[in-house]
Amino acid sequence: MHRFRIGVLTSGGDCPGLNAVIRATVASAHTLGWEVLGFIDGYEGLLSPVNYKVLTLENTQGIMAIGGTIIGTTNKGRFVAKSGHGEKALIPQPIIDEAKKTLEDLGVRALICIGGDGSLTTADQLFENDVPVVGVPKTIDNDLSATAMTFGFDSAVQCVADALDRLHTTAASHKRVMVLEVMGRYAGWIALHGGLSGGADAILIPEIPFSYERLAAHVERRMSGGADSTLIVVAEGALAEGGEYTTLDGVTQGEKRLGGIGSQVAHEIMERTGRETRTVVLGHLQRGGAPTTLDRILGTRFGVGAVKLIEEKKFGFMVSYLNYQISGVPIKEAVNQLKRVPPDGQMVETAKAIGISFGT
Ligand code: F6P
Repeated sequence: MHRFRIGVLTSGGDCPGLNAVIRATVASAHTLGWEVLGFIDGYEGLLSPVNYKVLTLENTQGIMAIGGTIIGTTNKGRFVAKSGHGEKALIPQPIIDEAKKTLEDLGVRALICIGGDGSLTTADQLFENDVPVVGVPKTIDNDLSATAMTFGFDSAVQCVADALDRLHTTAASHKRVMVLEVMGRYAGWIALHGGLSGGADAILIPEIPFSYERLAAHVERRMSGGADSTLIVVAEGALAEGGEYTTLDGVTQGEKRLGGIGSQVAHEIMERTGRETRTVVLGHLQRGGAPTTLDRILGTRFGVGAVKLIEEKKFGFMVSYLNYQISGVPIKEAVNQLKRVPPDGQMVETAKAIGISFGT
């Protein structure tokens, strides 16, 4: 008879801090005498050919500072439960049944699913099919309402701030305008926090449609007033007034890939002001590399919290961080409630108070 066994998997886009969650899960399960199986490449590891590895204190040692996930992840595959903004598709029943059987055959008594809203929707569907799951929310976009913060966000913001610091010196040397395109489909948290901490002069986010005319006027006012540079941060999901999302070829978790708004903004600024303008797309640099200390701590707290939810048999719940405390909320209530930047909120007001334009 083997020890009490639990499983863990990481699903959807990766982000810094996943390994901190895995390490903490293994360490706290170990203190309870439990064994942990890590399913490889997300939910795919539950399907034929079943793929997992036993996670131990030894093979999870030293992983906290490493970006990505040591057990891999899948964004597509047979388990996609999301088909566009707010629309959820159900996973076919034979897939659910196969995953359930794998867990039963292996004697896995609870499964920790670390993922974003699409992956947690899948977790909830498994729960409805009597699979004892608990969730750990993950997104660099920080756009889940049920938790004040998700790990990976702070690391992404740090990356944006570092990029702006670098862009500032080259922009100032050439008296240029620099446009930095960052991630954020429906929520502008990365652009807003990154822009504030990196000294941006304008921030364009999905929640506040902007006008090219007013943005260009802001740029011109600054440059003709003697500013040596103007830094503009634009979220990939930002929209000009009456405009549409700028998309690339390809689909991620049932959604069109976003991108291209940065060069569009640069083009419009150049046309309207004649100022030399350059664009940088930060892309997946925001998702790679070592997590910040804050994300390491949050990831560790989430890992410990997930094991505690299992101990308390709170299946169908996910860990959340609210009022500086880790607690549990039903996955069903947590997914599908986007946390967007309030256009009249304190963060936007703070930015405006120091002269940052939102292109309005
Ligand atoms: O949701 C996280 C996120 O990083 C978004 O900000 C971005 O639009 C998307 O994932 C990118 O996905 P992919 O890695 O598939 O290009």
